[in-house]
Amino acid sequence: MLRLNRVWKTYRVGAFGTRELTAVRDVSLDVAPGEVVSLIGESGSGKTTIGRMVLRLNSVSQGRIEFDGTDVSTLRGRALKSYYRKVQGIFQDPYSSFNPIFKADRVFDMVRRQFFAGTPNATWHGKIEAALADVRLDPAQVLNKYPHQLSGGQLQRMLIARALLLDIKLLIADEIISMLDASTRIDVMNLLADLTSRGVGVLFVTHDLALGNYLSTTTVILRRGVIVEMGATDKVFANPQHPYSTHLLGSVPHLHKKWSQVEAELARHDARLGPCGYHAHMPGRCGMPPHDPDQPMLAEIEPGHVVGCSYDQPLG
Ligand SMILES: Nc1ncnc2c1ncn2[C@@H]1O[C@H](COP(=O)(O)OP(=O)(O)OP(=O)(O)O)[C@@H](O)[C@H]1O
Ligand SMILES: [Mg+2]
Repeated sequence: MLRLNRVWKTYRVGAFGTRELTAVRDVSLDVAPGEVVSLIGESGSGKTTIGRMVLRLNSVSQGRIEFDGTDVSTLRGRALKSYYRKVQGIFQDPYSSFNPIFKADRVFDMVRRQFFAGTPNATWHGKIEAALADVRLDPAQVLNKYPHQLSGGQLQRMLIARALLLDIKLLIADEIISMLDASTRIDVMNLLADLTSRGVGVLFVTHDLALGNYLSTTTVILRRGVIVEMGATDKVFANPQHPYSTHLLGSVPHLHKKWSQVEAELARHDARLGPCGYHAHMPGRCGMPPHDPDQPMLAEIEPGHVVGCSYDQPLG
């Protein structure tokens, strides 16, 4: 359904846009219907950038993003509208998705105007009620209110309800759980599980390893814009190969380790320069970097489980 094929993103940064920052490098991944793929990585590793490129909020610098075989960068007009009917995103900070001067349910009106212009009022209200019920929101509590009158969790769930009004096939969920309190978290997690059982694919961005482990079928670990390890979640968690993943996932008490701690440990690992999983599994190509730029820097270490090189990741 969704396929990222060797996708790169370079931003122009600096006061005059003279410097380039490569936020995503050579990322390839798939999301199949009904699958949850979690993107895990420290702050700045390119997770949101990937989500934004899928949603066409950022352009792709190199490579292709395909949805059902079509390059999404080519979509225009009707085709683009139909894409947004199927692919929706919800981001970290729900407040940024609402305009404080309008009532929060305006986000539903916008969907109606764009996609359901001919739908009679009664049918439309029924749809909204059903979508709100799906996210365990009481219409009386959330309709006709301004964003500041609602909690972050309520707003987040309204955004999920908005996505449910459309017949989505793919949801980009960027840290949507972190703002929620414990009981709402469980509701939203159940809701995501429910969506996947209806065949919706989810690209689930998270800092929270335990959540990623719990929810996802596939885990993608990103570091500095590069996939360092990817595979079926149970394989990656049970048998992490990249030193970064090993440090992250190596033992349960590490699950809540601070990213800075992981980076520090990794720096110590780099200093020792033991053989990395990638080179160990690429006979004949273990002369150390630089790599052949035409070859993705990922080696398959067991079926459906790939690992990246741990040396060749310059910053910037
Ligand atoms: N619009 C932009 N212009 C320039 N640089 C950007 C832009 N958006 C992101 N970046 C940079 O790209 C890199 C990746 O950012 P991104 O937001 O994708 O990371 P992230 O993994 O989502 O981080 P976080 O966990 O903090 O949300 C960062 O170095 C960031 O500063
Ligand atoms: Mg982000």
